Amino acid sequence: MLARVFASNHHLRRRTVMSLTNGVSKAQDRSNLVPFSSRLREGRALAEDVWSIYNVANLPADCINLGQGYMNFAPPQWVAEAANTAIQGVAENHYSHPKGRLRLRQAIKAHYSPEFNRDLDVETEILVTSGANEGMYSVFVAFLELGDEVIMFEPFFDQYLPSVTFNGGKPVYVPLHPPKVEGKNSSNEWTVDLAELRRAITPRTKMIVLNTPHNPVGKVFTREELEGIAALAEEFNFMVMADEVYDCLTFDGKEHVRIATLPGMWDRTVTVGSAGKAFCATGWRIGWLIGPPSIIRPSLAATTRIVFCTNSPLQEAVSAGLEQAEQRGYFATQRAEYAERRKILTDAFDKLGLTYTLPEGSYFILLDIKNVKFPEDYPFPPSILGRARDFKASWFIAVELGVSSIPVSEFYCEEHANIGEAYARFAFCKDVDTLRRAAERLQKLKNYIQ
Ligand SMILES: Cc1ncc(COP(=O)(O)O)c(C=O)c1O
Repeated sequence: MLARVFASNHHLRRRTVMSLTNGVSKAQDRSNLVPFSSRLREGRALAEDVWSIYNVANLPADCINLGQGYMNFAPPQWVAEAANTAIQGVAENHYSHPKGRLRLRQAIKAHYSPEFNRDLDVETEILVTSGANEGMYSVFVAFLELGDEVIMFEPFFDQYLPSVTFNGGKPVYVPLHPPKVEGKNSSNEWTVDLAELRRAITPRTKMIVLNTPHNPVGKVFTREELEGIAALAEEFNFMVMADEVYDCLTFDGKEHVRIATLPGMWDRTVTVGSAGKAFCATGWRIGWLIGPPSIIRPSLAATTRIVFCTNSPLQEAVSAGLEQAEQRGYFATQRAEYAERRKILTDAFDKLGLTYTLPEGSYFILLDIKNVKFPEDYPFPPSILGRARDFKASWFIAVELGVSSIPVSEFYCEEHANIGEAYARFAFCKDVDTLRRAAERLQKLKNYIQ
């Protein structure tokens, strides 16, 4: 079948080029001579995504960007200094081992072994990757066969979908259910329906992606919820990809349980981490996978052929970060700083009397925008017209109030987009002054509340 498609494409291309070389007089379009892969369409990679629509370039120049989830502050000084030192070296500027630099794997081992209640092996159980994204991509390359199904909870981090479909996998969506009671709520009230999850499992289910702490809900899955998911993984023999990139960002003493530590789960779980989140360095592109040799070895084979190795000097800097974090009380301080940032926004929403989901982890707040009204005939740009209501509300707030957010229906499949339509996501990974200014501007929302 594939061979036939290829042959007919090939034939078509030859015909087009021949007619061009024959010098046919009618105007010829040479801008698309070679068709691109249908993978891009399946992975929604060609659609104008939410990040391009709400890009700073499209919004008023002084708009405060609480849409995109990256920090507007630098990595800690002592980690940045380690990067400066590394870049002066020789070996630090050349290829590293595809597994990652030994110093970083040792630092990951020291930091994570107590968390996993095991003595992690730096040779077989830890793999440094080019950010969490590339790590997850490598796992999909290593494990997915054509038509294998990957379950993901909605709302989902938008990179999962193309990463799965580019590798021949089929995403299967199971929604997290929003709180049933109207009013102020906690991310804990977003729930998994285990019966619904069970119904989504088929003989082709290969993997589930479990993101905790969760983007964008802020949910930190409870031990009971994880036990329920683990029991299904055992019963139906599928793998768990535990995307725990926000593991260092939980609030109010909330316990972050790693599904890999539940009985029997180590053997079928790969845990994903990110230096971008841990050390405010999202552009450094350093992440890691932790798991049993049966998962790490194939993922290493894949990553070696995708990027060969991850950038070397910044691996050294992240090593210094992990080595010194405890002694400097770094993660505890960072948690307190994020709790303060969260409070600036929640105070602003409380003052407005608007409902939101108080996150137990990660750095996002879902604001309930059902009661925010905007003129139907507002001059929305074409990229917004025809989109769900949350796209319009986010656009209106960005243009009229000067604070950008991200519409949450983007993180759902079409069938379930109506659940997300009620929310806009505000990121609080911004400095206190910026958040205060945003909070002040948001008070103007009171003119638009029904
Ligand atoms: C849930 C989740 N997973 C993974 C990533 C990607 O992490 P990295 O920047 O290390 O690739 C992000 C980034 O926003 C995320 O929110």
